[in-house]
Amino acid sequence: MVKFTVIGGSASSDLAKKIARKLKAPYIKTEKKTFPDGESKITINQIPKKSIVLVVQSTYPPVDTNLLELISIVSKIQKFSSKVYAIIPYMGYARQDREFLGGEIVTIGVVGRLLKASGVKKILTVDMHSKLALKELNISSENVSAMGELVKYFQKMGLKDPLVVSPDLGGKDRAQAFANLLKTDFIALKKHRDRKTGKVNILSGKVEVKNRDLILVDDMISTGGSIVKATQFLKKQKCKRVFVACTHALLVNEAAKKIKSAGVSQIVSTNTIPGDSAKVDVSKVISDALK
Ligand code: R5P
Repeated sequence: MVKFTVIGGSASSDLAKKIARKLKAPYIKTEKKTFPDGESKITINQIPKKSIVLVVQSTYPPVDTNLLELISIVSKIQKFSSKVYAIIPYMGYARQDREFLGGEIVTIGVVGRLLKASGVKKILTVDMHSKLALKELNISSENVSAMGELVKYFQKMGLKDPLVVSPDLGGKDRAQAFANLLKTDFIALKKHRDRKTGKVNILSGKVEVKNRDLILVDDMISTGGSIVKATQFLKKQKCKRVFVACTHALLVNEAAKKIKSAGVSQIVSTNTIPGDSAKVDVSKVISDALK
């Protein structure tokens, strides 16, 4: 009897195949057709055998389309399995985890309710933006970290005495974990984001970065605003090279270009979101958590 069956959604099919191989689980492919009006039609060509079914689908842009695809697959599959787990390597809406300004909706809670209603019994995600977001999902859920895999990549680069930097205080624990594994030190900058315009500013004063290679560690890059501002700030303080390690590289609105222009030597991210910078594979951390 098979323990798991893996189904890959269109946003994460390569990663889903890798997870299936690591779990020695059958893999079921889905097909997606997009109609001229933007609606998508999802087809699952095979019925899973009795097993825990893992539906793997990140919800990066187009966020709502990818989310609806995940919900649609789960709604169909829960007819054949009483245990359907959603493996959401990148969880969109995780930053909407509280009411920052009056009247805002905590959308990650809405996502949780939708997933639960569709038949999801458990969620597994990678480097979720905040503990609060995980709580707001209000379903049995597990968060695994890709920091160890990212560190392995940087160990191979052999940087001499790099300093790990978090672009904000919220990412301090993540940067500390990264620095501990890399056996080096870390600092966290103080960042301010205007909740209305989204504009970012670094509020920190002088930091000891002169002549050191730096690794900016973050959970995600969206517009690149945080990384650009942090890099400009650090370059002014005469650091050497700046590298970026992040789990989820959305890189919207030409963020990669802007980050390079600010002086970043390399962006290293994971395959929770496919792309040029996705050099690190998270299939092992995901499958290990499921075994
Ligand atoms: C913020 O708290 C996050 O950890 C990221 O730093 C942020 O979401 C990145 O967004 P952007 O690239 O648009 O600055």
